[in-house]
Amino acid sequence: MPLPDDPPVDAAATVLVAFTVNGDRCEVAVRPGRTLLEVLRYDLDLVGTKQGCDEGDCGACTVILDGRPVLACLTLAANCGGRAVQTVEGLAGPPDLDPLLDAFDCTGAGQCGFCTPGMLMSAKALLAVEPKPSRERIRHALSGNLCRCTGYGPIMDAVEIAAGTRPAPSFVTAGEECIPAPLPPHPSRSK
Ligand code: FES
Ligand code: FES
Repeated sequence: MPLPDDPPVDAAATVLVAFTVNGDRCEVAVRPGRTLLEVLRYDLDLVGTKQGCDEGDCGACTVILDGRPVLACLTLAANCGGRAVQTVEGLAGPPDLDPLLDAFDCTGAGQCGFCTPGMLMSAKALLAVEPKPSRERIRHALSGNLCRCTGYGPIMDAVEIAAGTRPAPSFVTAGEECIPAPLPPHPSRSK
């Protein structure tokens, strides 16, 4: 879907780019300045990747490109030929739910949810190369992802739970609901 203020596409000014997104092969005609973020959201309808600042400051647009986290708003689609993109839509759903999705749910790491896809992809890229990162490493890996809701603690907890370096919360009954019990303080804070 073109953006409302997009100029008419001049076929002669476009390049054909073929790459994979979440394992599916895509071929898209793009103007040279079109970003990967625009292609994902407006050409491929993959709107899980968020468009926040659009200038590299917030991390909401983070996707994984050839195994590394990148800001899709600063990545030219024309440079993605032959490469592999993973977006939040590529994280496994039930029955083999990605542990990060489960852990984000348990800790309340997604509140308004705007930062969540970018956080998840930064965390996914980290765990792929470093399955048991320290809290400090998690904090560093997610330092380019801004969140205005959570205070970051539940997000760090969730990544540790997904990595198995922290036990998942037990569940307690609250009225007719079964909800995760509050996590004990992080070990680094109980000393
Ligand atoms: S939208 Fe890309 S960094 Fe904010
Ligand atoms: S959950 Fe709202 S910005 Fe992070």
